[in-house]
Amino acid sequence: MSETRAVDHSEDLLSLPSALPAWQAVQQQALRLADTRIADLWAADPERAGRWLTRAGPVLMDLGKQRLDAEALSDLLDLAEATDVRGVLRRQFGGEPVNLTEGRAAWHTALRATQPLPEVQASLQRMGEIVAQIHHGQWRGSTGYPIRDVVNIGVGGSDLGPRMVCDALTHAACPEGRTLGIHFVSSIDGAQLAKLLRRLRPETTLFLISSKSFTTSDTLANARTALDWLARAVPSTEEAMRHHVIGISATPAKMAEFGIPPENQLLFWDWVGGRFSLWSAIGFPIALLLGMDGFRELLAGAAFMDQHALEAPLIDNLPVLLGLIGVWNSTFLGLRGHAVLPYDGRLASFPAFLTQLEMESNGKSVTRAGVPVNYATCPVLWGEIGPNAQHAFYQLLHQGTQAVSADFIAPVRRYQHAAEGLQAQHRLNLANCLAQSQVLAFGDGCLPAPDPSPHRRYPGNQPSTTLLLDELTPHALGALVALYEHKVAVMAAVWDINPFDQWGVELGKKMAGEAERLLCGGDPSARADGSTLALVAHIRALQENA
Ligand code: F6P
Repeated sequence: MSETRAVDHSEDLLSLPSALPAWQAVQQQALRLADTRIADLWAADPERAGRWLTRAGPVLMDLGKQRLDAEALSDLLDLAEATDVRGVLRRQFGGEPVNLTEGRAAWHTALRATQPLPEVQASLQRMGEIVAQIHHGQWRGSTGYPIRDVVNIGVGGSDLGPRMVCDALTHAACPEGRTLGIHFVSSIDGAQLAKLLRRLRPETTLFLISSKSFTTSDTLANARTALDWLARAVPSTEEAMRHHVIGISATPAKMAEFGIPPENQLLFWDWVGGRFSLWSAIGFPIALLLGMDGFRELLAGAAFMDQHALEAPLIDNLPVLLGLIGVWNSTFLGLRGHAVLPYDGRLASFPAFLTQLEMESNGKSVTRAGVPVNYATCPVLWGEIGPNAQHAFYQLLHQGTQAVSADFIAPVRRYQHAAEGLQAQHRLNLANCLAQSQVLAFGDGCLPAPDPSPHRRYPGNQPSTTLLLDELTPHALGALVALYEHKVAVMAAVWDINPFDQWGVELGKKMAGEAERLLCGGDPSARADGSTLALVAHIRALQENA
């Protein structure tokens, strides 16, 4: 029998934020409120309304439907002090190497600073020049036609951010942006690309190959397919690269290796994390759509929220409050799912963007020092345009067995100069938003006489935050996205985790290489488990027969 030695983890445990008296105080609050319902909180404090509304610039946040009272919030704010949330934000905003495992900064705030670094200034300048050339038909395809369609090839942060903003702000496009087709392609199987290429003309198409690392196999595979397609109309690869390809990356050497000439390269830096990169040259499709003035408006909205995050007292600080509520729900109330519910079809891509931002950042289980945590961190996020989700998964939120939290997001002003029909649609949309958060919070307590049938009961007590934007403008969207970026940082600070690395995705990439070798012909050195080998055998047999 092998000898086992008891390992003393007590020191490790003491290093965790859960050992802090402030953490234990919040834990006590969660126990005290365990059986208290949102409806009880309102009955106990009818003045609650005003206290839970906080506004910063174009964003109003209502926490009135969360499951906590003023006393619990006060202890959460003490926990923010005890975990030095403000200091963590200051170090991040100051460009310190807060991403400890990769030894680099997470300095996306520098991309929207009012006094930008010289390299940021230069990148914006270069983006502006190319945007103008494309807008004015001076950037031409190899046969002399102006560019009509731009295809962004990227994945993760090199896709989700610019895609989400372009979807959200089509209505704010500049006149030249309105005439361009701006498309996004990410899937490794080439399905999205193939579908798109069927209706584009190589002579008038420009590809943006967007990849921070320029090693991501999904992006490079799509890029190669795009080059093959271009070759039909532009036989010289050099010409194709010069007229039809722009590379956007933090690794110029890799872009050069791929054949992209230096004048067609837009750069950003390793201190910009992929999921925080839409403010950099990765936002080039946004600049094409909105024009540089619109892009700068987006940056200014984010800069506004940066300053608010740094300077507003904790109790009035939107990112701090949103982050603390996230920790409260996930860690202290044990809610393991969080739904993102925009009541605006233009924000269709916002839930997908947030899933990467939050889950890739905070899906961690060790502290910054590498100690395993003994508390729950990031919940599972998912989402959909709210009214569509009402007809899909809200049933589970209303009557399922799962306790979840939600964010409702909606613009207040819309269609002001449009036909009455559209104004009525917006009213209906807002009414649904308000109705659903009420039913989630109060259940059939909303009704004077609830139906006694168990099938028709609504237990309620599902907490939610409502975020109202004055209007969906570039400035307001910039502020909203920065709000969530800092929410993520606040949560990470309280949990003492590093939100800026993503080691969890690396092993899968390595194993994809092994699996590819197996699929190519059973390389005996490739590693796989029995289940995978059986699947490979099945695939190979079917493909060989075909
Ligand atoms: O695999 C995860 C990831 O590294 C993300 O963090 C990143 O946004 C995405 O892949 C794309 O990476 P790149 O921009 O280097 O192609």
